[in-house]
Amino acid sequence: MLSKHDNELITRVGPGTPMGELMRRYWLPALLSEELPEPDCPPIRLRLLGEDLVAFRTTSGRPAVLDTWCPHRNANLFWGRNEEEGLRCVYHGWKFSADGACVDMPNEPARSKFAEKIHQPAYPAVDKGGFVWVYMGPPEHTPEVPHFEWLDVPSDQRNVHKRFQDCNWLQNLEGEVDSSHAPFLHGSVGPGGIQPYNANSDRQPVFEVLETDFGAAIAARREAGPEQFYWRITPFMLPCYTIVPRARDTNYIWTAAVPIDDLTMFGMTVIWSPDKSVGRTPVVETDASFRARQTKANDYLIDRQLQKTESFTGIRGVRVQDMAVQEDQRGPLSDRSREHLGASDLGVIATRRLLLKQLKALQKGQEPKQPHSPEVYHLRSLALNAARETAWQDLMREHMRLGAGVQT
Ligand code: FES
Ligand SMILES: [Fe+2]
Repeated sequence: MLSKHDNELITRVGPGTPMGELMRRYWLPALLSEELPEPDCPPIRLRLLGEDLVAFRTTSGRPAVLDTWCPHRNANLFWGRNEEEGLRCVYHGWKFSADGACVDMPNEPARSKFAEKIHQPAYPAVDKGGFVWVYMGPPEHTPEVPHFEWLDVPSDQRNVHKRFQDCNWLQNLEGEVDSSHAPFLHGSVGPGGIQPYNANSDRQPVFEVLETDFGAAIAARREAGPEQFYWRITPFMLPCYTIVPRARDTNYIWTAAVPIDDLTMFGMTVIWSPDKSVGRTPVVETDASFRARQTKANDYLIDRQLQKTESFTGIRGVRVQDMAVQEDQRGPLSDRSREHLGASDLGVIATRRLLLKQLKALQKGQEPKQPHSPEVYHLRSLALNAARETAWQDLMREHMRLGAGVQT
């Protein structure tokens, strides 16, 4: 559990909040690059960390993100004309460059110097790996985009996906680091009751956690015969990223919980392979606004008969099963003071502890190191059988990062 005070601290991300300030030290994947398909394409609405923004692609092809409220008389720049390296407000024609400079003010006298005094808030944005990344923090602390492995693979070796979730971002992140839910929430039932998950029937994993240079490594150990353990090691990468351990020979899955505001989020997922094409099957069926067909409003199309005979939940789709539980944990923003955490919640506890530690340090003026160490994000998750005497910390140091090992 968390105190009500810490629950507020860790979940709320608007401007000026402690978690919001921490999030603003990191680049975030804010859009799919294809949402801005070509130079001078229509601008789109973007809400990120509780701020209303407008995104557009300039004539020279660079993505740009501005505060959406025109500094003249607060019209919405979403209606704007995207033309010649800038966005022009349709109300009185003021025009802004990608950097927020007011480059034209056609309704003021020609010799007026007023435009030079106007600056629209603008955030740096770059295309990388199929996403537009945005940095909303202090310019003097601008970091590099983290060096995830999938950013470098050919585009047919990654499948980039985005979906809307009707809950606070932390509920999604906690689901990603919580390995003990999988055999239940994503499990199947048969005549003998609940079935083995990923060929392993141990439903009481022993958890261990280690703080690392990227955040925390969360290890779940399961029995695998007399001589071996089955280890699943999930990296939690600050501030909102994970890599799901893959079942044998399947692809890696990277996730990001990106806050729209305190009560809604986008879940970004990248399925990737270092050596082969991965196809384009969507992670969840969504409409043009990235909303799933199965939602809270239609009970995720739960099938109670299926729940009796085949599926633990009766809800179709692994991601939708996650959404069903995450979008309503006593509502869209869970009251963690009312929880009862057990030994299997160690990963969740470690994730919260690390986020709270970083945001409290930042409140005291200590900047986080991770945003300025892009190389520590060059990771894979691990899922493997190993001799019982092998220490998982050694497995992680050796196999989780290619090249230099993980520092703990
Ligand atoms: S409100 Fe935008 S130009 Fe007047
Ligand atoms: Fe899940």
